[in-house]
Amino acid sequence: MSSRLEGKVAVITGAASGIGEASARRFIEEGCRVVLGDIQADVGEALSAELGDKAVFSQCNVTVEDDVAALVDLAVSEFGQLDIMFNNAGIVGALGPIDTAIEAEWTATLAVLLNGVFFGMKHASRVMKPQESGSIISMSSVAGLTGGLAPHAYAAAKHAVVGLTKNVATEVCGYGVRVNAIAPYSVATSMVADAYLHDHKAIDETMKMLADESPLVNRPGLATDVANAALWLASDESGYTTGHTLTVDAGITTGAMPGGPRFSEYMPMQREAGKSGL
Ligand SMILES: NC(=O)c1ccc[n+]([C@@H]2O[C@H](COP(=O)([O-])OP(=O)(O)OC[C@H]3O[C@@H](n4cnc5c(N)ncnc54)[C@H](O)[C@@H]3O)[C@@H](O)[C@H]2O)c1
Repeated sequence: MSSRLEGKVAVITGAASGIGEASARRFIEEGCRVVLGDIQADVGEALSAELGDKAVFSQCNVTVEDDVAALVDLAVSEFGQLDIMFNNAGIVGALGPIDTAIEAEWTATLAVLLNGVFFGMKHASRVMKPQESGSIISMSSVAGLTGGLAPHAYAAAKHAVVGLTKNVATEVCGYGVRVNAIAPYSVATSMVADAYLHDHKAIDETMKMLADESPLVNRPGLATDVANAALWLASDESGYTTGHTLTVDAGITTGAMPGGPRFSEYMPMQREAGKSGL
């Protein structure tokens, strides 16, 4: 146990599972008190009971502005302040080709992945601007930085989170509030287990599959990897960083691929060309 977040108070949405749960555990290990928000009441209550008096759970649907506002208000009433807002809740959402996309599914996906983040930024800023400090962290994805990695609504929302992060950062920096995002590649959580293996509990099998497909040899993405990135952005260690989107992606957005780079296949040919002076 160390104390990188000693005395701080966080709200985490989507805290009942995966990255949100790992972040709640990690933040509390570092001395933080945490309001856990999630649509899953039973799981969230059980986690809160396990984590003890540094955690409190409140059921929250991030598509409902009043629910997100209530999480922020609970942080202040229960723990006296709000230092960290982690807008993490998410779903995969609408699937399928663009020409058969269903408007209601598109809208519902953006309601969770984008409106939820917007409400979190808005209500965290309401508290953080007057206190002239705070760190807002929002969940994007590698699918928010490049095309072809996720369904259309998901990709659009995650790109929008990057844009909103930059824009809000430019407003609230004058109040000492920092606004950053995180862009993970595939991480072994219920969401990915469900999407890839159609079984949200198959975390171990998902981890094995991700290890096989990882550019970083035998290294799957873990919820704790993202929690550790969130911890840095939440802490004063990142005090000069704002408007940034931090990738946690085994190099995927730099072009890294499982099995190494394609250009290595051309090396012998290039060597020959070098010898003949071409
Ligand atoms: N796992 C990955 O590979 C990966 C990669 C990039 C980004 N992300 C993002 O990370 C975030 C967390 O995902 P995860 O992988 O931990 O998934 P997860 O399914 O384990 O956790 C998501 C949590 O969000 C909650 N949630 C869903 N809709 C909600 C709503 N309307 N209101 C409140 N809570 C709601 C769920 O109940 C769940 O507890 C998401 O935003 C996701 O898009 C995940």
